[in-house]
Amino acid sequence: MQVHRVPVSRWYSARVSGLRAGLRSPPGERGTVRKKAFWVLGLLALALLLAACAPNATQSTLDPAGPTAQTQKDLFVPVFWIAVGVFVLVEGSILLIAVKYRRRKGHERIPKQTHGNTRLEIGWTIAPALVLAVVMVPTVSVIWDLARAPSADALHVTVQGYQWWWGFQYTDEDMKVSYGQQGPITTADVMVVPAGRQVDLTLEAAGGLIGPGDPPDPAKADNVVIHSFWTPRLFGKQDVVPGRDNHITFSADAPGTFTGQCAEFCGLQHGLMKFKVVALGQSDWDSWVSDRKLPAADPTEALAKKGEQIFLNPLSNDRGSCVNCHAIGGTEASSGAAPNLTDFYDPTHTCFAGCDFDTFDPEALKTWLRDPDAVKLGTKMPNYHLSEDEISALVAYLQSLK
Ligand code: CUA
Repeated sequence: MQVHRVPVSRWYSARVSGLRAGLRSPPGERGTVRKKAFWVLGLLALALLLAACAPNATQSTLDPAGPTAQTQKDLFVPVFWIAVGVFVLVEGSILLIAVKYRRRKGHERIPKQTHGNTRLEIGWTIAPALVLAVVMVPTVSVIWDLARAPSADALHVTVQGYQWWWGFQYTDEDMKVSYGQQGPITTADVMVVPAGRQVDLTLEAAGGLIGPGDPPDPAKADNVVIHSFWTPRLFGKQDVVPGRDNHITFSADAPGTFTGQCAEFCGLQHGLMKFKVVALGQSDWDSWVSDRKLPAADPTEALAKKGEQIFLNPLSNDRGSCVNCHAIGGTEASSGAAPNLTDFYDPTHTCFAGCDFDTFDPEALKTWLRDPDAVKLGTKMPNYHLSEDEISALVAYLQSLK
């Protein structure tokens, strides 16, 4: 196959005169241009197709694992096929008409010019209205269905959107801890729920400088952004709006781990504001709950004990203090500004800092403590310029929190 190479200027002038002469490339070159366009479009389509592939896709709304996601999928699928029908009809007609009535050699006359066709215009106004009316019936019914009040035995969890991680408070009377102010069990990054039981989520935007349960304060820049809470296999997106509580009711059919993420742009780390939902079987759930009600155990190992002292006291040379922002149940650390670390090393708490890092990878923990901003740009956790000794001790302490 021979490829014609034509200098750009010559190609351009030939092209322009070709267009003038009748919207055509100069003869002999037309095939090459068409072939090129074919390949470029083909490669583009292939790239788009491959971009949809992932070896271990864990976040698919098409693979529901609970009744809420199932209901949403059952609405999505028929609406999708109706949309496909409309697409094929409209685009097909455009293609058909463009090909059938294209300009041909020897037919140089201007076609008859018309303006307006009342019947057609009424038709294509009514047809979409009818399609929308048909789609509205199941849509409204699903909206009502999902807005129904949760069952009486539902578990209540308040989800708090921080910049940029998620906090979870178990607000039911029987989910209070046994120490201190007997507040709700509080976790971060991983929400643990019992499989098969309905969960009623209250979504609230939280702030970096306000305590748990405080009303959102617009004066504090951290809690004026909108997040969106989304676990594709369990439930669709719901906005988390400052000053307003939204709700999601869902349940997981079976025990498992489901990944989720923030779905509303909320600042620098929005794309990495991830979380996990872990659904446990009944006996695992019961023991998880009773463990959570206990204060953090006092560390026994010397290095962990040293880490506890570093954690609970101001750092030397006015570098700051871990307890200004974090809470650890049973100690003086009680701030709600940053993730609650009481159960940091519990087997369910597999990730931290917006689920960006593996809890059980000591190197990840050390890298994080060395300079949080270096591995998570924009994070609110400051660099305390910890020494390697301090880091090792803190890691040992965190590893004792199970
Ligand atoms: Cu939070 Cu995006």
